[in-house]
Amino acid sequence: MKGLFLTFEGNEGSGKSTQISLMASRLRDMGHTVRTLREPGGTPIGEEIRHTLKHSHSNHAMTPEAELLLMNASRAQLVREVIRPALADGEIVVCDRFYDSTTAYQGYGRQLDLGMVQAIITAAVGNTRPDRTLLLLVSPDVSEQRRLARQATLPFMRDRMEEADRGFFERVHLGYTEIARAEPDRVQTLDASGSVAEVQAAVWKLVSPWVELLTT
Ligand code: TMP
Repeated sequence: MKGLFLTFEGNEGSGKSTQISLMASRLRDMGHTVRTLREPGGTPIGEEIRHTLKHSHSNHAMTPEAELLLMNASRAQLVREVIRPALADGEIVVCDRFYDSTTAYQGYGRQLDLGMVQAIITAAVGNTRPDRTLLLLVSPDVSEQRRLARQATLPFMRDRMEEADRGFFERVHLGYTEIARAEPDRVQTLDASGSVAEVQAAVWKLVSPWVELLTT
């Protein structure tokens, strides 16, 4: 059996992480070996980079270019330390965010040059690219409501990425829709504004044929 590389993408409040764990347990119940990972992070080095990017007290002055490189330093480590060996062993690898996040957040959100962003991504991943990507989107309004509600429950957990203004998150949303339009064979978009159970059913309807097709 060959490995399968799935990525989940989406804006803040789209419920990606919940959906990944529901889908992964269902696949495990069917006997598949599933590796769930997150970005930035997923390795000891990557988790330190994640801390620097999001929660460190000394990250206020981070430039967009440093952010781009740190996201991709974490990715370069994850690809070589975990993703490639797991795929070579025939595992299903499910990553909570991957390079489409860089295009959406650093390319569209921070407005870095898209050609430079793609070059850095290529340096980080080489030819390790997702077989399929599920894009869970909620409107910028719903995203903001869910983000603020979550921040209210975690008042001491500062997250530099969430300090951006509304225009940033609107550009991220636009970036994702452009990515989906450019790569319709790889990227499937789902409306994530429904209940967890509704989104779970929609995720499964898309993922189960991919697993059948791509792992046999
Ligand atoms: P999350 O794990 O809670 O989704 O947080 C990750 C944050 O990092 C989120 O705000 C999206 C952002 N991000 C980027 O800006 N670029 C990237 O390449 C990745 C992987 C994440």
